[in-house]
Amino acid sequence: MAHLLLALLLGVAAPQVPRAPYVATPPDVVARMLALATVTSRDVVYDLGCGDGRVVIAAAQKFGAHGVGVDIDPVRIAEAQRNAARAQVEHLVTFKLQDALDTDVSEATVVTLYLLSAQNVQLRPILTRQLRPGARIVSHNFAMGDWDPDVVDVFTSADGQSRTLYLWKVDGRVRP
Ligand SMILES: C[S@@+](CC[C@H](N)C(=O)[O-])C[C@H]1O[C@@H](n2cnc3c(N)ncnc32)[C@H](O)[C@@H]1O
Repeated sequence: MAHLLLALLLGVAAPQVPRAPYVATPPDVVARMLALATVTSRDVVYDLGCGDGRVVIAAAQKFGAHGVGVDIDPVRIAEAQRNAARAQVEHLVTFKLQDALDTDVSEATVVTLYLLSAQNVQLRPILTRQLRPGARIVSHNFAMGDWDPDVVDVFTSADGQSRTLYLWKVDGRVRP
C-alpha cells in the first residue's frame, strides 16, 4: 500500500513530458540539416526520434555516413528498416526501438532532432555529457532551452513553410 502511494505521488510530482508526434521532415529540409552539420563519410549520424528513417538514410545515401535511428514507435522502426533496404544502405544504418532518453550517443559525431523543446531540454545533459568535443547537434524547429546555438538558419522550405534549424557544436562542457 505504501509503495502504491509513493508511486502515485511520484507520478504526480514528475509528470510525463509530452512526446513529439510523427511529422516527417521534407527532403529539402533534411538536406539542409545535413549540410548545416557538414556531414561527411567519416560521420556517425544519430537521429533521436527517427520516424521513417529518412535523415540517417539520406546521410548514408548522399555521403556514405554511418547512421543510427531510434524511435519509440515500432511501426516507424519497421518502416525505417524497409526504407533502408529499399535505399540499399542497410550496411550503413541501424534502427532501434528505443526511447531517445535511454540511448547511448557516445559514438555519434552528429545528432539530429525533430522533437519538442521540452524533450530537447531533457536530452541536453545526456548529449553534452556523452558527445565528444567537435560533435554537432542539429534540431529542426525546436531549440534547447537557454543553450545558445552556434548557428540559427531560418528559411522557407519547398512546401512554403517557414523553418528554423539550430546548430550546436559540442565543446566538452556539460549543460545540465
Ligand atoms: C516529428 S517526428 C520526426 C521524425 C524524423 N526525425 C524526421 O525528421 O522526419 C518525431 C518522432 O520522434 C518519435 N519520438 C517521440 N518521442 C520519442 C522518444 N522519447 N524517444 C524516441 N522517439 C521518440 C516519434 O515517434 C516520431 O516518430
